[in-house]
Amino acid sequence: MRAWDERQKQQGEGTARRSRLGSDKLLIMERRSVTVQVPATSANLGSGYDCIGMALDMWNELTVERADKFEITVEGEGADQIPLDDSNLVVVGVKAAFEAAGKSVPPLKYHLKQRIPFGRGLGSSSAAIVAGLLAGLIIAGHKLDVQGKEQLVQLATEIEGHPDNVAPAIYGGVQVGLYDSLEKRWATERVSLPHGLVFVMFIPSFVGKTSELRKVVPTEVSLQDAVFNMGRLAWLVLALTSGKVQNLRVGLEDRLHQPQRGEKVYHHLYPLIDACYEAGAAGAYLSGAGPVVMAITTGGSGDFFTQSFTQRTDQKVAAAMNAVAQRMGIEGKVYITHPTNVGGVVVRADPPFSSDLVVYNGET
Ligand code: HSE
Repeated sequence: MRAWDERQKQQGEGTARRSRLGSDKLLIMERRSVTVQVPATSANLGSGYDCIGMALDMWNELTVERADKFEITVEGEGADQIPLDDSNLVVVGVKAAFEAAGKSVPPLKYHLKQRIPFGRGLGSSSAAIVAGLLAGLIIAGHKLDVQGKEQLVQLATEIEGHPDNVAPAIYGGVQVGLYDSLEKRWATERVSLPHGLVFVMFIPSFVGKTSELRKVVPTEVSLQDAVFNMGRLAWLVLALTSGKVQNLRVGLEDRLHQPQRGEKVYHHLYPLIDACYEAGAAGAYLSGAGPVVMAITTGGSGDFFTQSFTQRTDQKVAAAMNAVAQRMGIEGKVYITHPTNVGGVVVRADPPFSSDLVVYNGET
């Protein structure tokens, strides 16, 4: 019998006895295995370089279980491009969680189901970090202070470097994140979103290397450009909170990173943005460090496949993006999705959190 099973047996915490446990004890005990899902995120939203991001309904899934030795297996999008050693960000996340718990990491087996394309500007690194942190906390049986402290955001941002992807990956929706120099911690706040937004993204088949793409961004900017972006980011947040979607286009304009990345690396960026607007998009921008070009369209309501095309523009925008990409010889595909208002979640654990008396929605 392995040490963990032995310990659980000694503590009398086998699954057969879980209904008799006090609920607090059930909620904080160590787990044998856990499965979590974490959403894709789209950072920057044009004018908000490094400080705003949004979660999308496209999810990676990570299962971590106690094992005799370390192992990572990956299936799905970009499976052959993902490291299978401890440099993998899910492992980095798990380690940080165990460190926060003051425990050493036991041998663990990882299985990743990748649905977020890797290295495209859709937050796959942040999804991995957040998935690792959540799974590690569950296996270790450790909880963090969130209200007023945002400990999970601190851990994730310390690994990622900036909060714009990790914050929506943790909480969902649109999040504005910053370093609060008074409280000396990373902080994040939700921006409400109007209903009916549909996100249409052109995903090129090539990968963008964030570290290289950050070098293209100037470290000093003119006062004029700073004022340009400050006004646009405020305009964008107002457009989202007030539902004035006609103001999105101006709010998404940027002078800090898109023109530089568009000119030096992503020649498809502005031709695609222009095509999106011609096809009726409410907004278009470079998602994160790219190469994905994201368009925001309006009018979505209820089931996607049963609503008439005359009320929506997503199909026209998708066709326009594909046409320009083909003309420019850029391989890729269009993906259509919605924002999600929830972030990373535990979907399964062994032993489960649910008992004979309390069932948690989502635990399958
Ligand atoms: N804000 C980041 C960037 C997102 O644009 O480089 C990618 O990590």
